[in-house]
Amino acid sequence: MDSWYYPPGRQTLKSYWLHAAGSKSPTLPVQNEEKRNLELGGHVGFDRLPDQLVSKSVAQGFCFNILCVGETGIGKSTLMNTLFNTTFENEEASHYESDVHLRPQTYDLQESNVNLKLTIVHTVGFGDQINKEESYKPILEYIDTQFEKYLEEELKIKRSLCNYNDTRIHICLYFIAPNGHSLKSLDLVTMKKLDSKVNIIPVIAKADTVSRSELDKLKIKIMSELVSNGVQIYQFPTEDEAVAEINSSMNTHLPFAMVGSVEDVKVGNKMVKARLYPWGIVQVENENHCDFVKLREMLLRVNMEDLRDQTHARHYELYRRCKLEEMGFKDTGPDSQSFSLQETYEGKRKEFIVELQRKEEEMRQMFVNKVKETEAELKEKEKELHERFEQLKRMHQDEKKNLEEKRRELEEEMNAFNRRKVAAETLMGQALQGCSQQPFKKDKDKKNFFSLPSACSLTSGRNLN
Ligand code: GTP
Ligand code: MG
Repeated sequence: MDSWYYPPGRQTLKSYWLHAAGSKSPTLPVQNEEKRNLELGGHVGFDRLPDQLVSKSVAQGFCFNILCVGETGIGKSTLMNTLFNTTFENEEASHYESDVHLRPQTYDLQESNVNLKLTIVHTVGFGDQINKEESYKPILEYIDTQFEKYLEEELKIKRSLCNYNDTRIHICLYFIAPNGHSLKSLDLVTMKKLDSKVNIIPVIAKADTVSRSELDKLKIKIMSELVSNGVQIYQFPTEDEAVAEINSSMNTHLPFAMVGSVEDVKVGNKMVKARLYPWGIVQVENENHCDFVKLREMLLRVNMEDLRDQTHARHYELYRRCKLEEMGFKDTGPDSQSFSLQETYEGKRKEFIVELQRKEEEMRQMFVNKVKETEAELKEKEKELHERFEQLKRMHQDEKKNLEEKRRELEEEMNAFNRRKVAAETLMGQALQGCSQQPFKKDKDKKNFFSLPSACSLTSGRNLN
């Protein structure tokens, strides 16, 4: 470090601290923690800081992401349309989806001068499969993927979190079917799996189909089941005095009974959102008819920022902590001493190199063993082939020997035959000669000739010896 950083004559950091502390001890000076309140002489201007923050936030715009979990046709899209007083894209899902998948849709909305990037994520096919055991998994994976994306952005060297398109889910509206006696196992399992990942607000869908007394009983039953199964739903915060009263009173109304409608019906001399039945009108914004106004108040007007904050500070923080611990990062070592990021990185790098070497050695050994095995197999095969070759060679030699033997026999037979043939021809010649000299004895001799054994050899030569 350059010496001009230090007072004249103090050439090192250590000597500077010793001088500052007024002692020869090498301890660093203790920072003065005491704060003093001072009066300002006039207007300075930092009281405008909150305004600066507000205008900066307004210029940047806000984002809010809603996850609607509920069975097909339970009224998710209708409620979203009613809540934001608009018509979002609405694609009806079929009841024949083979699995659950999530469909996010993002919209840019503006109210006064505030821009809101709203993402509504629908669960398509939820509750339609015969086996519903895995139904919660795609929802969990979707939520984790959004956390992962944010973490990746945070860990980048060049981060741009200010204009990052935040897709983390801020609120999960869980739609409970109104036609049961209580929660279904699917509801309980799904909410239990999601409660550490997202803020859950349970709502009773199509509450106009349940009578007032049934609705009250259903609400009590649902809440007691959630409590007894340890499901943590979102509680409207009561720390801020400005909203403590309304929030604590709203907490007692959970789960909210919902009625949605995109129809405008004339009631008195006013057009209102309502559902028109042969027996009457259910007004969405009438608090005697349903809790729609309460939900809108809590979700959009009072606690939107708390929902965004809880998502970041509680749910994302938990995900981030688990993920970093999984990756081997720690704040403190086994002796409770704090770890710097550099130390953690170095430690992890060493571990990784050792692991890599171990794996390399293991693979090399595996390769050597494989080569040895293959070599042994090839040798065995070669031996087998050699044996087979020898066997065939022996067979061939035996066959050749047999054939030679047969050929010799045949030649001998042929020679014998030829000898007999010559003898027979000679005999015949002599007999013919005799006949021509004694013509008068012809008939008698002819008879005798044919009775002679030698004459027979002319007709069956092979039997003559
Ligand atoms: P998918 O997206 O296909 O899963 O359906 P969804 O959950 O978005 O349901 P959607 O809003 O399309 O509504 C399905 C049907 O229920 C429509 O006929 C709506 O009119 C009706 N519906 C919606 N909300 C209510 C309600 O509060 N009460 C009653 N009685 N019917 C409702
Ligand atoms: Mg829908």
